[in-house]
Amino acid sequence: MQVPFLNPAAQTAALREALIQAVVGVLDRGHFILGPEVAALEREVAALIGVAHGVGVNSGSDALTLALRALEIGPGDEVITTPFTYIAPAESVIQVGARLVFADIDPVTFTMDPEEVKRRCTSRTRAIIPVHLFGQAMDGDGLFGWARERGIRIVEDCAQAIGAGRSGRALGSFGDIGCFSFYPTKNLGADGDGGMCVTGDEGLAKRLRMLRVHGIERRYFHDLHGYNSRLDEIQAAILRVKLPHLEKWTRRRGEIAKRYTDGLTGLPVELPWTRPGNEHCWHVYAIQCDGRDALQAHLADRGVPTLIYYPRPLHLQKCYEGMGWQPGDLPMAERVSGRILPLPMYPELEDAHVDHVVGVIREYYRGA
Ligand SMILES: Cc1ncc(COP(=O)(O)O)c(C=O)c1O
Repeated sequence: MQVPFLNPAAQTAALREALIQAVVGVLDRGHFILGPEVAALEREVAALIGVAHGVGVNSGSDALTLALRALEIGPGDEVITTPFTYIAPAESVIQVGARLVFADIDPVTFTMDPEEVKRRCTSRTRAIIPVHLFGQAMDGDGLFGWARERGIRIVEDCAQAIGAGRSGRALGSFGDIGCFSFYPTKNLGADGDGGMCVTGDEGLAKRLRMLRVHGIERRYFHDLHGYNSRLDEIQAAILRVKLPHLEKWTRRRGEIAKRYTDGLTGLPVELPWTRPGNEHCWHVYAIQCDGRDALQAHLADRGVPTLIYYPRPLHLQKCYEGMGWQPGDLPMAERVSGRILPLPMYPELEDAHVDHVVGVIREYYRGA
């Protein structure tokens, strides 16, 4: 049996007619940039998150950069984020000219350790970017209030966490600004790039709307130095077809996670753990084990290709060489990078696929 690691085409097949109609609707209307589909999607996503404003932008990466700009963070400021994630949040700090500071992770939830974040705060710290990695909330229960008392802003990276929550409240509603990605393999994925900022603050929403179109409020009058970072109508129309299915898809991801956990319990692997009070959206189901590369090769030989998120922590990436980080500086992120193994996870995955993956892993340990 072949089990694709990701399969966006399966989702397209299930919604084909509705997607085609949505795209044709935009083509016929002829309004391609910042039209009614984007405005409607902004309202719908904001309502899902439970905040007043959504601002569509052209990627999750830009959502983060524009969020920092909207908060007027720049040269001389420090921003703390995680070394164990996709590079976008770190890049956004560099893009605005601020100093990038990493705080090590909790090796069980893969998200930043709040005590580490506090330890890295200085008088120059202006923002924290918690990444709700793999679909569960970073532990911000004590941290976010502590930070706020010190005037430190929170920009939530929810690229992997749409539909996830903490104690009944959606992720993206805890910080000053929540940033989402609609990259095709995300839990709510476009058929191209897309992203969104959400915020409850009208002033920030206004700045974000200006920043995404070259800093204008009135055409050809540029009050801010901005960007071209707009979500386009076709992607918004596609996302609006998919959004009503998100809750059902998230439930299915939860069922798959439970099936993996039931099947793999008792093996010498660490299974993912959900912090009590977190409503996980299971963007990624990742196990940890010793000798990860051998298990990954065994799976690949038996029809289960996998991809390692993330094989090298950000502080050890070549592009950050000049920052002076050394191996051993952030030991938890480094340890997890060498042991993590994400398994196939998407709502269209069938029980038989999950059972095959479990069977192959069990077979590996029988032979080991
Ligand atoms: C945690 C995280 N942040 C930010 C991004 C950036 O989003 P995009 O690819 O839409 O720019 C991604 C993924 O792509 C991500 O996984």
